[in-house]
Amino acid sequence: MAARMIIASPTDYRLAAKRRLPRFLFDYIDGGAYAEHTLRANVGDLEAISLRQRILKNVADLSLETELFGHRLAMPLVIAPVGLAGMLARRGEVQVAKAAAAKGIPFTQSTVSVCPIEEIVPQSSQPIWFQLYVLKDRGFMKNALERARAAGVTHLVFTVDMPTPGARYRDPHSGMSGRFGPQRRLLQAIGKPRWAVDVGLFGRPHDLGNVSRYLGKPTGLADYIGWLAKNFDPSISWADLEWIRAFWQGPMIIKGILDPEDARDAVKFGADGIVVSNHGGRQLDGVMSTARALPMIADAVGRDLTVMVDSGVRSGLDVVRMLALGARAVMIGRPMAYALASGGQAAVENLLDVFAREMRVAMTLTGVTRIADIDRTCLAGQGGPA
Ligand code: FNR
Repeated sequence: MAARMIIASPTDYRLAAKRRLPRFLFDYIDGGAYAEHTLRANVGDLEAISLRQRILKNVADLSLETELFGHRLAMPLVIAPVGLAGMLARRGEVQVAKAAAAKGIPFTQSTVSVCPIEEIVPQSSQPIWFQLYVLKDRGFMKNALERARAAGVTHLVFTVDMPTPGARYRDPHSGMSGRFGPQRRLLQAIGKPRWAVDVGLFGRPHDLGNVSRYLGKPTGLADYIGWLAKNFDPSISWADLEWIRAFWQGPMIIKGILDPEDARDAVKFGADGIVVSNHGGRQLDGVMSTARALPMIADAVGRDLTVMVDSGVRSGLDVVRMLALGARAVMIGRPMAYALASGGQAAVENLLDVFAREMRVAMTLTGVTRIADIDRTCLAGQGGPA
């Protein structure tokens, strides 16, 4: 029998997921684009930033609570959209949405989730954000927006850094891209997991997320991914977002901004928020890390809209670093995915507890008691002394 894993830090969930998942799924989460330079830079640049230790400040009355778009959050964290999370655990998106709600933070549902919007929203007491890709099939987008509104989604996140999918070289090696025959055989060998039955890898294709709902018929996973691959749209521009505005009155957040000029365009467009992101290093390898891009962007537009960030955040200490660099809130992708794969809702709840604990320690030892007070003076050599 395999030795039981001890889970102390968020990184332990990565190892637990590696043990638990078939390789094609682990590499799908863990990998990045091309040679994975940006993936490594996201983590490396962030952890290289020194926090500024302060002492004897009486920080006993400390709170992680914050306000985002008029909602109170228990801490400045948001679950990032992660496609096909329902393949990491059965009804995976519902499990994560419940964990996020239990810990008082928003969950963002991906366009390409396994569970449809209508299944998720009623199971959460917290705001549900919905992420949309701008796809060639505008009928799908209109349908998704209407369903999101009807279901009670509160915020819309537009991911604009995927006019074409980045080349992820691990996928052909692991078999995640290409035909699903080998995966089916592998999963058959380990005993037909329920989620794999749900996504139609055995026998009859099942109801699969938002795409099945739109097409009005069950889709197997291969059809689902094939439909998506054909639908990424390199012609997208700000004008397309104007078209979408007409269908959506709530807060609109643009995800995938890495340049101050684009951030200024987002202000001109009238976005309520942006997510500084390079898609976790999964799109254009060689672009700069978000830890480097964030301060320039926060300086350019931080007073005009809500600046959030993701990519490379692996601990509560990293969250505090990102807030100090100018973000109002931080999204996490892979840490959540590893935890979900390791132990479902309970593991994601524990992960969020660990993040909260780490944030408290970072605030205690940098001498701040309120999220709004975290700024560049909390960093050594970046506003504080070198
Ligand atoms: C993603 N990401 C993503 N983003 C998005 O807007 N829609 C999506 O469907 C997905 N799918 C997806 C799948 C997987 C497996 C990963 C790891 C990521 C990107 C995600 O929202 C986020 O930007 C990054 O994950 C942030 O980087 P970290 O936290 O993973 O380093």
